[in-house]
Amino acid sequence: MLKEEILKALRESEGYVSGQELCESFGVSRTAVWKAVTKLKEEGYEIDSVSNRGYRLKTLPDVVTEAEIGSRLKTAVMGRRCVCFDRIDSTNLQAKRLAEEGAPHGTLVCAGEQTAGRGRRGRDWSSPPGQAIYMSLLLRPRIRPERASMLTLVMGLAAAEACNALLLRARPGGASGSWEGGGPVGLKWPNDLVLDGRKTAGILTEMSAEIDCIHYVVIGVGINVNEKVFPEELPQAASLFQAAGKPLLRAELIALCMEYFEKYYEEFERTEDLRGLKAAYEALLVNRGRQVRVLEPGNEHTGTALGINDRGELLVELSGGRIEEVYAGEVSVRGVYGYV
Ligand code: BTN
Repeated sequence: MLKEEILKALRESEGYVSGQELCESFGVSRTAVWKAVTKLKEEGYEIDSVSNRGYRLKTLPDVVTEAEIGSRLKTAVMGRRCVCFDRIDSTNLQAKRLAEEGAPHGTLVCAGEQTAGRGRRGRDWSSPPGQAIYMSLLLRPRIRPERASMLTLVMGLAAAEACNALLLRARPGGASGSWEGGGPVGLKWPNDLVLDGRKTAGILTEMSAEIDCIHYVVIGVGINVNEKVFPEELPQAASLFQAAGKPLLRAELIALCMEYFEKYYEEFERTEDLRGLKAAYEALLVNRGRQVRVLEPGNEHTGTALGINDRGELLVELSGGRIEEVYAGEVSVRGVYGYV
């Protein structure tokens, strides 16, 4: 898409890019370039146009649009078809509607605001405009339905790695360094992203399937990105801004999530389980070595979380030394001394 290509060229250039250069790089007319630039200006980009010099992007707005995401994507499949809304009921609901209409594997739905954002276990997901990421990825995996819950962990890992990569870029000195011990964003099994012991993202996976075949899976991700403070009702929430100390670009993070997810999904597809991702997942697992309370209906008990198995179940060592495999669908796990 020309608009995306031009946006990318302007973003990657320090100074002015001549209209002629853009025409030649993309094999289009001057009018086509001018039209694409005009569209970008209409979408809120401040672009200087100076005769004899060309075009220059003055600011990088934090917008979640197809052009902004598309111009940053490095994937082959994930997010290549992308639909963005200023406001929608829920990106998961929209992704499911698109799935029913035949949208392809890898379709990404994003929104600036959700009016009926949904969390796990029937809870609401507060989704005010402008600061957070609300996105849903549509997949058509050729795996047995009972394996689909592992996809949530694949996305959790991808999103956590993406957040850490973005926070690394935001540090003085940029992405040249690396985090010791995985990075500030960790995972609370099965799929919450955690920063300083508070929740920074949640994942809701939904599926349409028959007993032995999946029609589609929708993985919805909500990430707190640029919130400076949270309302009193959300004492356990944290944002990436609070770790970075400066605002971050949501589209950059969405593109990074797609990049990591594509890589990890390929690995998951190869083995149809998490054996190739277990070590990376466990490196970010904040429950590891901690006392956890297993909230199994009618059988609440505590133990020490050790890690996960190839199916993504949490391994919990009980007081007698027996190791229990906890399946995410049936129970939830809380820290004995707090949220983690
Ligand atoms: C949780 O309860 O932790 C899961 C929260 C998932 C929220 C995301 S925001 C994008 C997508 N659309 C929704 O309605 N929910 C998910």
